[in-house]
This record gives sequence, structure tokens and C-alpha cells, in this order.
Amino acid sequence: MRRPIVAGNWKMNLAVQEGRDLAEKIKASCGNWNAVEVVLCPVYTSLSAVGQILADSSISLGAQNLFWEPSGAYTGEVSPLMLRDVGCRYVIIGHSERRTYFGETDETVKRKFQSALKHGLKPIVCIGETLKEREANQTFAVLERQLAGAFTDASAADADKLVIAYEPVWAIGTGKTATPDQAQEAHAFIRKWLVGKWSAETAAKIRLQYGGSVTADNAATLMGQTDVDGALVGGASLKADAFTAIVRAALEAKTVAA
Ligand code: 13P
Repeated sequence: MRRPIVAGNWKMNLAVQEGRDLAEKIKASCGNWNAVEVVLCPVYTSLSAVGQILADSSISLGAQNLFWEPSGAYTGEVSPLMLRDVGCRYVIIGHSERRTYFGETDETVKRKFQSALKHGLKPIVCIGETLKEREANQTFAVLERQLAGAFTDASAADADKLVIAYEPVWAIGTGKTATPDQAQEAHAFIRKWLVGKWSAETAAKIRLQYGGSVTADNAATLMGQTDVDGALVGGASLKADAFTAIVRAALEAKTVAA
């Protein structure tokens, strides 16, 4: 049984003290719910402060990005070793906002993914189609290209540490959540691709998150889908109550189903 994983992607929100306050509240509500893995991904400048709050809880710290080199003359970048140094266990890679606004490609996603693994971080690799691509019936082709691009050189041993987030771009921050059937269809496609890439046994271990306008109201039905193993939450992760309700929905859907 895959352990569900719910991650809060705070994006470029919350100053240090606001981040601390939110982390304290989330720790108080679900800081010892071991049946669900909870990850908080604040901005770089809050990682250290939030990490200190989470240190004595079951909640993990994650970053929203990294650069693949361990150190050097790369002004403005942050390395995987530096993320480890402040206590990160996870890192989001290839989020659609990074692909759209910061020129990330399947190639840079691959390099970041490999660097994360090499330096002991667990990657949450984001993939997903735009509305135009969905309407042109290209969803599976886009997912296939993004998966192949990220994981060309990856081995089955890497797969164990991997989380994949399916985030349809048209659902991010729009309030237009994918229906549970749409989410399950895409996740089943991803799982099938992973079976072809590695094996049924390996594919069965990889956790697939859904992301895109997940709320306290729609989380339970999304988590109820066979291949949806958790959520990558943006807007709703900025409110302790809403985020906790999403974590609870994952807990209930997956432990009742187990
Ligand atoms: P929203 O939950 O705000 O739609 O954002 C989703 C997302 O991009 C998480 O990475």
C-alpha cells in the first residue's frame, strides 16, 4: 500500500513570520498523523525557520526548486546541498509555473531530478498539459513526452524515491479542478507508462499526486481514486484549516480503502 503524500506548495507567498505561524498551526493539527506524509514547501528564505518548527514533527520540509550544481558561480541559484543543509527532504521540480515563466524544459527537469537524487533529496516531479493541449487530444502525448524527458536516464532504484505530481495547467489556480475521472484517467496513464519503463512492481510503489485547485471540498473524491496517492496543493495550503482538511481526506480515503 502506498503511503499517501500531501504537499503544500506555498509558491511566492508568506514572509518568514507568516510562514512560521502557518507551520505551527499545521504542526498542531496534523504533525503526528504518520499514516499520511505531509510536506511543506515554503519560499527559500523561510526554509530554515519553518524547518526548525517541523523538526520535532512527522512533517517534512521541501523546497520549490533547485539548481543542479552543488556549488559555484551561479548567481541567484540554490543547490541541493544547501537545501539538505537547512533540513529539506523533498524538492518540487518542473512546476508548470517554472516551465512557463522561467524557461524550464524537459532537459532542465531531467538535470534537476538527477541532481536531487544524487544529493539525497526526494524529487516531486510535476507534469501536466495545458488547456489547448487537452482540447487537441494531446494530453497523453504531452505526459509521455514529459515523463520520457525527465526519466530517460533514471533507474528502477531511483524510482523508489520519486513522487510525480500530475498538475493539469488549466486547473492550477483557476478553481477548475479536474474531475475525479479525469484525474484517475491521467494517473492510470502515468502508472502504465511507469510499468513500461520499469516494472509493475516498481510502478506500484511510486506515489502520484494530483494538483490543481484542490480544496477541502473536493479532496475526498479525488483521493478516492485508485491511482491518486495524494495532492500537491497551492492556494488551499496557505490556510491551516483547509490544508488540514485535505490531509484528513487523504488519510481517510486511503486508510479506509486499505
Ligand atoms: P492551486 O492549488 O492554487 O491550484 O495550485 C496548484 C499547484 O500549482 C500546486 O503546485
